[in-house]
Amino acid sequence: MLDRLEPQAPDALLALIKLYADDERADKIDLGVGVYRTGQGDTPVFAAIKQAEQRLVEEQESKSYLGPEGDMGFVNALIPHAFGRDGTMGGRLQGMQTPGGTGAVRLAVAVAQRAGVSRIHLGAPSWPNHAQILADVGVEAAMFEHANPDGTANAEAALAAIRGAKEGEAVLLHGCCHNPTGIDYSPEEWDAIADAFAGGAALPILDLAYQGLGHGMEEDAYGLRRVLDAVPEALVAYSCDKNFGMYRDRVGALYALARDAGQIDAIQSNLNALARAAWSMPPDHGGAAVRIVLRDADLTALWLDELETMRERMRRVRQSLADAGTAGAVDLAPLAHQNGLFSVLPVSKEQVERLRTEHAIYMAGSGRINVAGLHGGNIEKFVQALAAVTG
Ligand code: LMR
Repeated sequence: MLDRLEPQAPDALLALIKLYADDERADKIDLGVGVYRTGQGDTPVFAAIKQAEQRLVEEQESKSYLGPEGDMGFVNALIPHAFGRDGTMGGRLQGMQTPGGTGAVRLAVAVAQRAGVSRIHLGAPSWPNHAQILADVGVEAAMFEHANPDGTANAEAALAAIRGAKEGEAVLLHGCCHNPTGIDYSPEEWDAIADAFAGGAALPILDLAYQGLGHGMEEDAYGLRRVLDAVPEALVAYSCDKNFGMYRDRVGALYALARDAGQIDAIQSNLNALARAAWSMPPDHGGAAVRIVLRDADLTALWLDELETMRERMRRVRQSLADAGTAGAVDLAPLAHQNGLFSVLPVSKEQVERLRTEHAIYMAGSGRINVAGLHGGNIEKFVQALAAVTG
């Protein structure tokens, strides 16, 4: 039977990791998969996480099972950071740990489907895995334009999708640092989005995978909090893979907001059943380390400092690109106003290919770059190569 399976292309983004590793050119530049890099091109473990991991090794007495919801100390410690001080919203909000943000999105889509959602609206372009997850779960994807040609967010398109959605439909939005464009809604646009959700039938699903990498932990949560304050129900997929640098440890959480506190246990029981059938329990280590950081004021302060350093470095890289003005046919000025790791350059697949083969510069076929892959030692080469292939 297994011989019936057709070969599948590897995930294009993940395939870049190996292509880059195999490239022997010393001046290669990795702008592919979304990991933060320092000015030296490294992706170190956060100092706060290192200390937490050391404590974990010393203090952990058992590795016995926890249950499908994972480490609830971790899940609850994140609540004030993501949702604000009174984040449990009168007992209407509850969460569980998931294997990374991908696990959280997967669970959100699966539980929405169980609740009757058959179609999910999302902005195009989006993180390619969103569409893959929807297709795999068996929910229809309905696309609207995420951005205008001038590089601003197309909030009108999102509002039209939210207002036009019927019972049995959801709208999936990126909370901040939009992947792949880096183009976020302004606070005023989030206000309008929250009002549209409040007045409509769509179930909001928010994906917050980069909190703290845009303007700050509070600023980046503005849209999420506005929507949650306005609506009766919502699902929130959260990732700590970027803002705690836990990538391969897969640290995420899914939160559900219920119409009233009495319904939260029924929702949670469905989430537990779906998680049990998919992965049974999330991996523990990373969530436990994040819990230790968030329960210790000194480690929390250290983590927030490290996050600020990352955010400021990415702002400086964005500003340097914008200061370069244009590179061939590419206007780099809009990058200064975009947020997080990613921006999309208006380059063709052929130009992306030439950047890789002729200049050892690796980026997604969509034209997405990870700005954290750039630093003082390679930014000039990047701008010159971009000019050479697009000029
Ligand atoms: C990315 O978009 O590069 C990251 O979110 C990694 C991934 O899983 O795709």
